[in-house]
Amino acid sequence: MSIAKKDYKRITVKTLVDMKAKGEKISMLTAYDYTMAKIVDGAGIDVILVGDSASNVMAGHETTLPITLDQMIYHASGVVRAIERSLVVVDLPFGSYQSDPKEALRSAIRIMKESGGHAVKLEGGYEIKESIKRILNAGIPVMGHLGLTPQSIYKFGTYTVRAKEEEEAQQLIENAKMLEKIGCFAIVLEKIPAKLAKEVADQLSIPIIGIGAGSGVDGQVLVLHDMLGMTHEFNPRFLRRYMNLFDDMTKAISSYVADVKSVEFPNESEQY
Ligand code: KIV
Repeated sequence: MSIAKKDYKRITVKTLVDMKAKGEKISMLTAYDYTMAKIVDGAGIDVILVGDSASNVMAGHETTLPITLDQMIYHASGVVRAIERSLVVVDLPFGSYQSDPKEALRSAIRIMKESGGHAVKLEGGYEIKESIKRILNAGIPVMGHLGLTPQSIYKFGTYTVRAKEEEEAQQLIENAKMLEKIGCFAIVLEKIPAKLAKEVADQLSIPIIGIGAGSGVDGQVLVLHDMLGMTHEFNPRFLRRYMNLFDDMTKAISSYVADVKSVEFPNESEQY
């Protein structure tokens, strides 16, 4: 059900923290362009993530590493032009924040100034603490991202569940507490055991948004094209497909091809 215009009240980072305090779950989806973002925003989503998964979904790369800061700004600008209510969080892409805090701040400022996004997301913990602090000091809200962090795929070597062992789980808890302490407004936890994710959500007062992290967290995020069933090669256990747009679109396009070939399209009423 879409939200009536009069009911629009912009979501801010404070809204999300208040939602957690009230026990209200947070909904988040990715979007990478104007048309999709308009639908997602109108359907009442709380947060739109302009994820660097655009590298896979929109550009067909195998990983999220190749997408550039300019490309992220292009995607985010279209999304921002579409929205009336949702909070727009934009991923800082690989290579735009890891080398030093000054570069991280420059990249975050470019995202905010050139796309009009409302916050940035960075992957990692202690190793990027100074960069996150620098961005926060400039007044830019930061969402953290721990667990499976796809920008580090070549370090992990696999997309399997993270933090199953005690040592990595403890490290993740410490990183999450540190991110809260320095001022992040929320954290994404990706592909970790549900029990661990719930433990983090219970211990922190900022919202924990899960993807493959179970139901004990404060909100959920999915990649839009996956949950709409536009992609069909990717089948992780955590993915629920709400539609099968791949088949529906294939049927529609095949019908169009057939109609053009048989001159069924355009008909009398579809011409001047
Ligand atoms: O880029 C992305 O889509 C993400 C989500 C998977 C959380 O970071």
